Amino acid sequence: MTETLTIKAAYDVGAIRREFPALNRDVKGKPLVYFDNAATTQKPQVVIDALVNYYSHYNANIHRGIHTLAEEATAAFEATRDAVKDFINAPSREEIIFTSGCTEGINLVAQTWGRANLKAGDEVIVSNMEHHSNIVPWYLICQEKGAVLKVIPIDENGELLMERFDELLTEKTRLVSVVHVSNALGTINPVKTIVEKAHKAGAVVLLDGAQSTVHLDVDVQDLDTDFFVFSSHKVYGPTGVGVLYGKKHLLEEMPPYQGGGEMIKDVAFDKITYNDLPYKFEAGTPNIADTIALKAAIEFTKEIGKEAIRRHENDLLSYATEGLLQIPGLRIIGTAKNKISVISFVIDKVHPQDLGILLDNRGVAVRTGHHCAQPLMDCYRIPGTTRASFAMYNTKEEVDSLLAGLQKAVKLLV
Ligand code: ALA
Repeated sequence: MTETLTIKAAYDVGAIRREFPALNRDVKGKPLVYFDNAATTQKPQVVIDALVNYYSHYNANIHRGIHTLAEEATAAFEATRDAVKDFINAPSREEIIFTSGCTEGINLVAQTWGRANLKAGDEVIVSNMEHHSNIVPWYLICQEKGAVLKVIPIDENGELLMERFDELLTEKTRLVSVVHVSNALGTINPVKTIVEKAHKAGAVVLLDGAQSTVHLDVDVQDLDTDFFVFSSHKVYGPTGVGVLYGKKHLLEEMPPYQGGGEMIKDVAFDKITYNDLPYKFEAGTPNIADTIALKAAIEFTKEIGKEAIRRHENDLLSYATEGLLQIPGLRIIGTAKNKISVISFVIDKVHPQDLGILLDNRGVAVRTGHHCAQPLMDCYRIPGTTRASFAMYNTKEEVDSLLAGLQKAVKLLV
């Protein structure tokens, strides 16, 4: 990064934008306004360079070779593990498992911890605002084991009804798996309280950090969560890499997830011994290049400072919320007191998909639909929303483009 110091001294969004080459492009003849950051963030040049550098100079498989390229690749890959450990303040690098993303992390826990620990009549608690990736894995394992999936309801603002959570927690509860921050509403859930209460009831907790890790300071020790997952591509890193943090004693007790190379110590046809953590859960050749580049994304974010980014994004959130509420017939879905910079909304008589197409014609990228959270949409009795989600590089001028596009669309469609 070239202009770090300038960015740090005063939040220089122009300098930050220059680090993201994709932001320079036009869409349909208009400058791109990228507001689909909750789906995936754009990548800074340092991340792209890290990928190119690996493939150009030290492409090799890891943990297997003694030649120079293999050693360099292994060192870079393992350096990301250390960077992730610090990023989420995990107690040890053995507790950082690389996956393909949040979805695989949750499936890993469901298929290993879940299969080993759940039995008929046990209960698993999720919430009504979960992404499908934190519903389906639990649904599957509960079906297999005869366990029961219970759901924490939400109020009209999109906040969890904590008194209902208290009622759901019983001696039958084995696991609570909730989203830290809702992808569709932006709600920041009181996860520390959830962990405390769940632990008191003897349950294990998984937090889905897909949307939180990019906006909030995640400290897994402070949260005291048993499992935490996040995806690289939502924290300005490449796609295809994710992280599962798990407490060591749980990971040690869990059976392996996938079988193959790397996750074993010794293999014979009649006896296999498994590798130590974290490798026990990393079968096969991993996504080496993208994992290496995740470190560049973490360092980039750290250099700008999460707090400064958060302040900037919160300004955008307030500015956009005020502007959106001036649009006739517009209703914001997700009005929790504690929110990150995600705004979902519906407009009377306008289908979100039509809105998405009209906005795209003006270069404005938003996500429309159910956001992989159908039970949440059912709760609001809507088929979907239009969602604008902001990142470190977005500007008020871009919000103005969104608002102008919406005004135009309403005139056209209503
Ligand atoms: N989970 C991602 C989103 O919310 C894809 O858009």
